[in-house]
Amino acid sequence: MQKNTLQVSSTKQSNMVYVVTGATDGIGKALVIELAKKGVRIAAVGRNPKKFEELIAELEDLGIPAKNISKISSFIADLSVMNSIVDVSSRIRDSYENIDVLINNVGGYFAERKVTEEGFEYTFALNYLGHVLMTFLLLGKIQKSESGNIINISSSEHKHGKIHFGNLNLSRSFFGRKAYAQSKLADMLFIRELSLFLRDTDIRINAIHPGIVKTNIAQSKFGLQSLAFKLLKNTVAIEPEKAAMRILQLVDNPEFAHLRGNYVSGTKVKSAHTAASNHYKREELWLITVDILKEWFYPILDEEDISLKNHRLEYIQIESS
Ligand SMILES: NC(=O)c1ccc[n+]([C@@H]2O[C@H](COP(=O)([O-])OP(=O)(O)OC[C@H]3O[C@@H](n4cnc5c(N)ncnc54)[C@H](OP(=O)(O)O)[C@@H]3O)[C@@H](O)[C@H]2O)c1
Repeated sequence: MQKNTLQVSSTKQSNMVYVVTGATDGIGKALVIELAKKGVRIAAVGRNPKKFEELIAELEDLGIPAKNISKISSFIADLSVMNSIVDVSSRIRDSYENIDVLINNVGGYFAERKVTEEGFEYTFALNYLGHVLMTFLLLGKIQKSESGNIINISSSEHKHGKIHFGNLNLSRSFFGRKAYAQSKLADMLFIRELSLFLRDTDIRINAIHPGIVKTNIAQSKFGLQSLAFKLLKNTVAIEPEKAAMRILQLVDNPEFAHLRGNYVSGTKVKSAHTAASNHYKREELWLITVDILKEWFYPILDEEDISLKNHRLEYIQIESS
């Protein structure tokens, strides 16, 4: 029988540990508020200490009990920088025996091309590489949960994406939508591939497009698309609270307990981009990603999680045969 949190006692549920990235604004902040109401333990990851203070003040204003607020820990990191993710994941691993739910929420849409200090195109680093690295580095702790759950915040935009295998950093031609769609498609391919690797475990990993949501992402400069986004925001966009509820259904609703490697749009399971069903594309991206990130995650996996390393070795054997 599949496990789900509805079947666990409230004491057990209040001991659950959730990691939420991008926790101080938009959908991530709404997730923290909903989770704080439940009284679970929350590792809230963000880049701005002042915004954490404001978040705690907001929770107090909302009347969330102090004992619930005391179960929130803030972790500061720049999630576009792999070194910073190594550092923050180490602090998170030191703080919790196990992690029940990892929500890779952080993400953004950038009209202008930027490159991180480690040489990656910013959207690709923040929306994709960072999610992969965070997941790999916390996997050992997620494996210790009775029913580990990884949820990546996707976007319907992934369906317009293409993986530019020879030019992942989009150095030759860049525009914001292309970078955003590529990063979200890459995330979808990764989710599908990791779910296959985790098929014999109790860990679930899925992606969800929460809908068009009234957040800062829709306020940023979108160049030619800004008008369309403003229109969407004023018409179909939902409140961040509703998006948070949709995301948390992947943990709480037994109807979703069987999902592995799936794409949920709003409240329904939908087909992902056809590339997600393409074994060769997934494998190619996996190999490139492992190669890019190995300097950051190999040393940790040596200590934490031998089995994932075996997966890498399996691929290397396929590659060289
Ligand atoms: N809004 C939508 O319509 C929509 C639709 C589909 C999918 N999504 C996805 O939903 C997720 C959340 O987006 P959102 O709409 O809530 O956007 P948002 O309002 O802009 O919030 C993004 C959060 O990520 C944090 N963040 C950004 N860059 C960071 C960095 N380098 N290091 C650490 N934290 C960083 C921000 O920190 P600060 O608080 O310091 O600014 C903020 O808390 C994204 O993955 C997005 O692609 C959004």
